Amino acid sequence: MSEDTRISTGDAFENLLHEERRFPPSEHFAAHAIATAELYEQGKEGPGFWARQARELLTWHEDFSQALDWSEAPFAKWFVGGKVNAAYNALDRHVEQGRGDRVAIHFEGEPGDTRTYTYAELTTAVKKAANAFESLGVAKGDRVAVYLPMIPEAVITMLACARIGAVHSVVFGGFSADALRSRIDDAEAKLVVTSDGTYRRGKPSALKPAVDGALERPGHTVENVVVVKRNGEPVEWTEGRDTWWDDVVGPASDEHTAEGHDSEHPLFILYTSGTTGKPKGILHTTGGFLTQTAFTQKYTFDLHPETDVFWCTADIGWVTGHSYVAYSPLVNGATQLMYEGTPDTPHQGRWWELIEKYKVSILYTAPTAIRTFMKWGRDIPAKFDLSSIRVLGSVGEPINPEAWMWYREIIGGNGGRSDTRAPIVDTWWQTETGAHMVSPLPGVTACKPGSAQVAMPGIAVDVVDEMGQSVPNGSGGYLVIREPWPAMLRGIWGDPERFKETYWSRFDNMYFAGDGAKRDEDGDIWLLGRVDDVMNVSGHRLSTTEIESALVSHPSVAEAAVVGASDETTGEAVVAFVILRGSAAQDDDVVTTLRNHVAKEIGPIAKPRNILVVPELPKTRSGKIMRRLLKDVAEGREVGDATTLSDPTIMQQIAASLRK
Ligand code: WT7
Repeated sequence: MSEDTRISTGDAFENLLHEERRFPPSEHFAAHAIATAELYEQGKEGPGFWARQARELLTWHEDFSQALDWSEAPFAKWFVGGKVNAAYNALDRHVEQGRGDRVAIHFEGEPGDTRTYTYAELTTAVKKAANAFESLGVAKGDRVAVYLPMIPEAVITMLACARIGAVHSVVFGGFSADALRSRIDDAEAKLVVTSDGTYRRGKPSALKPAVDGALERPGHTVENVVVVKRNGEPVEWTEGRDTWWDDVVGPASDEHTAEGHDSEHPLFILYTSGTTGKPKGILHTTGGFLTQTAFTQKYTFDLHPETDVFWCTADIGWVTGHSYVAYSPLVNGATQLMYEGTPDTPHQGRWWELIEKYKVSILYTAPTAIRTFMKWGRDIPAKFDLSSIRVLGSVGEPINPEAWMWYREIIGGNGGRSDTRAPIVDTWWQTETGAHMVSPLPGVTACKPGSAQVAMPGIAVDVVDEMGQSVPNGSGGYLVIREPWPAMLRGIWGDPERFKETYWSRFDNMYFAGDGAKRDEDGDIWLLGRVDDVMNVSGHRLSTTEIESALVSHPSVAEAAVVGASDETTGEAVVAFVILRGSAAQDDDVVTTLRNHVAKEIGPIAKPRNILVVPELPKTRSGKIMRRLLKDVAEGREVGDATTLSDPTIMQQIAASLRK
């Protein structure tokens, strides 16, 4: 391991590992919980356990003959020979089994408009969309780019694709036209589904212009663009290419038979940042993904689909919005809430107002949101009735014990009665893993603030040292997964070598997640953040190299280095160090220009919080940038050991330039 990939074992983490607080489930909760301790025993069976889950949780068009084929490792095949349709499992079967009147989605728009879809209504909507997409020439195996806000049409589009066997590639609405184009090109998408825009902080915000921008340059594969009318703002129109959703989906037939697709048929591609400049198209397939997402949604959240109201606040542009908005809640027949806007519009109590209004019982969100609410103050949630909440979930980044305790007391506190407080499940997983891998089980596990704790039943997670040996309790190392799992990525779109190299080459026969982790004295797992060049800003994954490439693509920049600096609210923040070209003026303007340039190249979410203009960058004799030292500067710490630098005075030069 090079200097830069060593695991941080700072004081903060040492303190964490001495966390003494334990919160066992209340007797009442444990008595009604769906998960039991036996589940862990059953999970030890591996593929056989998953085969049982697959048959119990899904309805198969044709049963499978083999649970797992690992003969071409690391390329897995799960539920071999089985035929299954994701949309049928999420929709039709509930209607056929008499649950058609149950609410599938309560939608609330940012301006306060609402729509409710029962399972019967959502099924019809998806059948119409499937027919409409087919009428535009989309067939099984074709790729469809989805660039939509959090409106029901997003889920309808994803399920319509799944129904016909087309592969969706959702691109987060916060990504730029350039980022959208590179994803369209990589997947060779035939259709783009977008909207005129959405609402953000009380104002209409546009999306269609980014699609127009992405498709401006010829040489792409897109034949049609379907546009949902959401905010009614005027849009540019390309005749022959653009169609309003209402004009094509509206008149489509509401009859459509779902065919069973092969268990390993591609379900979706989702791009995520890696350690190089080019985002990776993570490929997920059907049977395994559906099985493990449905399993985890049921057991991690103690889902009682007849009575619970589930709210996962993630955008469909991220994997959480795939696994726990578009698929698993519907596959499990649950009722969920979908909210379009920001948490502070029109006031900072909007989320709590929604929870009161829809009687949300399971809330699943990110630590960055919790820390923001902490900043806004406990008086705000205190104004609302949150007594419907039974289970709280956290995802995307480590949750610090202070935020964990606030979440428990203020959001899950149920008026202060300690015996009815909601358990918190801190779920560790990744775009690549598809579904929860490490999490407590409510009703079974005694929760510990700040720790994701234990591997899910049927999942073989371990913490290993440099040599790939399991570490003893009380020690740190790297998080790995020792056995294949159903929702694992099946590869990187169009790049099998990169798949092997990225995840399977660091340790023999183990999946390397890229995260540092520790086991405490009880054997519980604590996640310590990425050990590679990937940052986590507000639970969003960003690559240092990708932002560096964006910066150096600007004519004013000669060299750039990017680090993630710890930030109280967003977890990490992007801090860039740039060397300007001789001719470029060093003033505030250049910083603003470069921030906007990154927003244009990648998206506003990647904008550096700070850009520091420096005369030199610290490099080792072999030319590798020592980000560790830059991180010290960015976090305002005394700079660490700089003796391996090619020029040890560089850190002083940088410090001097920043004092100017
Ligand atoms: C990376 C994956 C999982 C869906 C959202 C993010 C970090 C995720 C946790 C957690 C500590 C976490 C890891 C991981 N991460 N959940 N509960 N505790 N860290 O998906 O964009 O693929 O990012 O997010 O560093 O590798 P993603």
